[in-house]
Amino acid sequence: MSQDELKKAVGYAALEYIKPGMMVGVGTGSTASYFIDALNTMKEDILGTVSSSIASTEKLERLGIKVFDCNEVDSIDVYVDGADEINPALKMIKGGGAALTREKIVAAIAKKFVCIADQSKVVDVLGKFPLPVEVIPMARAYVARRLVTLGGTPIYRQGIKTDNGNVILDVHNLSIIDPIALEKEINSIAGVVTVGLFSQRGADVALIGTSDGVKTLTL
Ligand code: A5P
Repeated sequence: MSQDELKKAVGYAALEYIKPGMMVGVGTGSTASYFIDALNTMKEDILGTVSSSIASTEKLERLGIKVFDCNEVDSIDVYVDGADEINPALKMIKGGGAALTREKIVAAIAKKFVCIADQSKVVDVLGKFPLPVEVIPMARAYVARRLVTLGGTPIYRQGIKTDNGNVILDVHNLSIIDPIALEKEINSIAGVVTVGLFSQRGADVALIGTSDGVKTLTL
C-alpha cells in the first residue's frame, strides 16, 4: 500500500470514534483531509465541528459540514488529527503544516485525542522531524538564539505565515529524551506562541496505518 492509501485507511478508521450528536475537533494536513472525507458520510448525525486551520475550515464548509468557532462550544468530544512523529507514549511532534497553535488549542479542549498516522510517523525517540515552533515575528532572532542554547539548529521557514500571522522556526538536530520538559522550556521563551511538541497533552489513541492493516495504540 502507498503512504497515501495508509493515510486514507486511518482517516476512515477514525469514524469508529465518532458517535451521533458529537462535537468533533478536526485536524489539519493530508491525513486529516481523509478524515474530513470520511466525516462527510456522517455530517447529518454530528452536532458539528471545530477546526484547527483555515484550510480545514474551507474544506469542511465546502462539503456542507457545520463549523463552530472555538469560543462558541463548551466542549469537544473527540479530536482527530495527524502527526509528524509519534512515540510509543503517544507523544507527538506536530506542525509540519504550520497549524500547531490552533491544533494545540483544540487538543486542549477535547475530551479524547485520536491520532491518525501512517507507520512512517512512528518513532522511538522524537526529534528526527524538525520541531516546529510558532514565534511572534519580532522575536524570531532572539528565539532562534535561545533554541541554539538548547542544542537545536533552528531554520526559519521562509515564506510561511501561520493562520495567526506569525512565523515558524523548524528546529533540527534534536533528540528529545524528555518531551514534557522540553515543551515547557521552549514555551517559556518570550516570543514563542507555542512549540509543536504535544507531550503534556498527547494522544489518547493512535490509529497507525500499516501494510498489515490499521493498528490501534493506547496507553
Ligand atoms: C499540521 O500542522 C500538522 O500538525 C499535521 O497534523 C501533520 O503535519 C501531519 O500531516 P500529514 O497528515 O499531512 O502527514
